[in-house]
Amino acid sequence: PVAAEEKMNPFAEQEAWEEHQIGKATLKFGSKDIKKPKKYDDYEFVFEDFIKVAVMDGVNVEQEELLCSVHTPTASSSAKTAFEKIQSDRKTLPVYPYREELLRAINDHQILVIVGETGSGKTTQIPQYLHEAGYTSRGKIACTQPRRVAAMSVAARVSQEMGVKLGHEVGYSIRFEDCTSEKTILKYMTDGMLLREFLGEPDLASYSVVMVDEAHERTLSTDILFGLVKDIARFRPDLKLLISSATLDAEKFSDYFDSAPIFKIPGRRFPVEIHYTKAPEADYLDAAIVTALQIHVTQPPGDGDILIFLTGQEEIETAKEILKHRTSELGTKIAELIICPIYANLPTELQSKIFEPTPEGARKVILATNIAETSLTIDGIKYVIDPGFVKMKSYNPRTGMESLLVTPISKASANQRAGRSGRTGPGKCFRLYTAYNYYNDLDDNTVPEIQRTNLANVVLSLKSLGINDLLNFDFMDPPPSEALLKALELLYALSALNKHGELTKVGRRMAEFPLDPMLSKMIVASEKYQCSDEAISIAAMLSIGNSIFYRPKDKQVHADNAHLNFHMGNVGDHMALLKVYNSWKDTNFSTQWCYENYIQVRSMKRARDIRDQLEGLLERVEIEITTNPNDLDAIKKAITSGFFPHSAKLQKNGSYRTVKHPQTAHIHPSSGLAQVLPRWVVYHGLVLTTKEYMHQVTQLKPEWLVEIAPHYYHLKDVEDLASNKMPRGDGRSAKINNVVKDGSVSFQDGNEVF
Ligand code: CDP
Ligand code: MG
Repeated sequence: PVAAEEKMNPFAEQEAWEEHQIGKATLKFGSKDIKKPKKYDDYEFVFEDFIKVAVMDGVNVEQEELLCSVHTPTASSSAKTAFEKIQSDRKTLPVYPYREELLRAINDHQILVIVGETGSGKTTQIPQYLHEAGYTSRGKIACTQPRRVAAMSVAARVSQEMGVKLGHEVGYSIRFEDCTSEKTILKYMTDGMLLREFLGEPDLASYSVVMVDEAHERTLSTDILFGLVKDIARFRPDLKLLISSATLDAEKFSDYFDSAPIFKIPGRRFPVEIHYTKAPEADYLDAAIVTALQIHVTQPPGDGDILIFLTGQEEIETAKEILKHRTSELGTKIAELIICPIYANLPTELQSKIFEPTPEGARKVILATNIAETSLTIDGIKYVIDPGFVKMKSYNPRTGMESLLVTPISKASANQRAGRSGRTGPGKCFRLYTAYNYYNDLDDNTVPEIQRTNLANVVLSLKSLGINDLLNFDFMDPPPSEALLKALELLYALSALNKHGELTKVGRRMAEFPLDPMLSKMIVASEKYQCSDEAISIAAMLSIGNSIFYRPKDKQVHADNAHLNFHMGNVGDHMALLKVYNSWKDTNFSTQWCYENYIQVRSMKRARDIRDQLEGLLERVEIEITTNPNDLDAIKKAITSGFFPHSAKLQKNGSYRTVKHPQTAHIHPSSGLAQVLPRWVVYHGLVLTTKEYMHQVTQLKPEWLVEIAPHYYHLKDVEDLASNKMPRGDGRSAKINNVVKDGSVSFQDGNEVF
């Protein structure tokens, strides 16, 4: 057993590891009772516990060897220019030796599935090969990415490799940001953006090649794209279709695309050792930080960087603060640790930091969301710390509620994560869960998004593409029919579809906006209330997410006071956002004003960009820009026109009950109405954390519900009875009870004809 333990010790080869210990033992790693020592010097770094685990669990967890592709950079000669160096680096990528073979395969087959480990050069190289081979003379090349950050960073990299300015020959397009021009021939874009391009160009005539990249991610948009591109490939024999994926399970793609051939890019490999904890971690964030510090202080600097997978922006920022704090306590006793966060909302200029080479004598620790699992390749990672969680959307088709939940990852994900450590040399992956967990608790694969999301948006897009027969759409994995019906029901409630399930004029207008259908409806409805100006400002601000109000830890009181101004009169969160936007506009978009009011200037600039685009779209759907600043009720009615399905009523105990599909919810503490507790509210979204929280809440008058959505709410739904009787939810809700033979859906109201 001793030998086995030795073998499991990731640093067994370095007998000196104990000498690197700092201070005395108090922290038992892997034990449930992690106590936070007051001073860092109290930590003992006990790798032993971490490692023994595997043996003690009695589970066979012999070191697993993961196969990882390897990219060996060529020795840089100082005589080379940066450009020459980039060109020679391109030739070291695993895909390079297969360039000709790949081009031949693409020439010979219309559809090709391409498989290669992350980092083999699929995303950056294949579009360039196609360009070099002349494909761009017949049309653009589209390469889709599930994530915005990946689309931007890859486009930046490729423009550099081609020696052109980003946005010229090589560009990217993500929602609300189009960095392309007339010249653009290689277009990196989110999968959602290509989906939107179908609306304007249903046969994608301006493209010669479509590469659906990162297909294994199986995002909702990617899954819908599969069906659409498969269809156009039939009547556009000149169009080349590439489906590329990082996982070896490509048979499924091939089967779906009428047995398309699979092209495998072999990778060069380094082994990755996997280590598990002895017991489940009580606090994985803390465990991850401690593990990272252990590695940093015990391993020679310069031997490799650390990648930690966390679940989201907030967690990453917290980890960053703690790491900063702890390393500063250690001072000069340790080598420099460069902390690089990476998540979707990270400002672009900070994103590139993760790709910068680590200076000599220092170590980088990258705090990443799932984005670093396969979408981004970061060189130089030797250690991966995997807490085993991901923030994932889940959807309850019964209630129509969507929530973001921190969920255990799948085995496939865990292995992808581990693989990130073995690209440039042998790597080590520390899983902050037990081997037993891995083998028994984790699912094999992640459930595709289409099976766990609200489909209203996609259904609206498909309807506006003229695809009416959704139940027979060629899905790779069909969504639950309940979710599909729910989406139809919502779109019907929003008047985007008529009772035969056909797109209405309202629906056609809504589909023009790259927004959630409820937001689009709010904008379209604002025409009636003469407040389209206000509606697009609110929509733009809501699209930013919750990064508008800035609350630095040391100035929280000041910040809160400043923010209070916007909530004056308890106008509700939507109006507060509008007030922020308009006040900023009144200062001529002053940065100084943002500082003074603890508002994130970057978020505001983004909101302004989004607003500009929405303004352009208003013109397209022929809605005049009108402003109605003094009629609060008009603006609130426009909001209610979009969000009436999200209404809730106060209960005696201070919680809320949603009116349709009754469910308990609370106003999120960050809301301006959290202390006010109005009797009736509409909310933007529900998020489940410790409780079901309503975000962005506005007060409403119950009679509006009946006035605005008489087909959805009955008087009895909103009767404000003194008794605590629950309003009945389903009385008049639009029911889809007639699915006719051809698969299109018609609606029939429960008890009345309309
Ligand atoms: O798509 P795939 O995972 O196969 O690889 P890729 O994204 O094309 O990356 C190939 C190589 O390009 C990586 O190994 C990185 O060295 C480099 N790269 C980079 O330096 N910066 C980026 N933003 C993207 C890629
Ligand atoms: Mg890629």
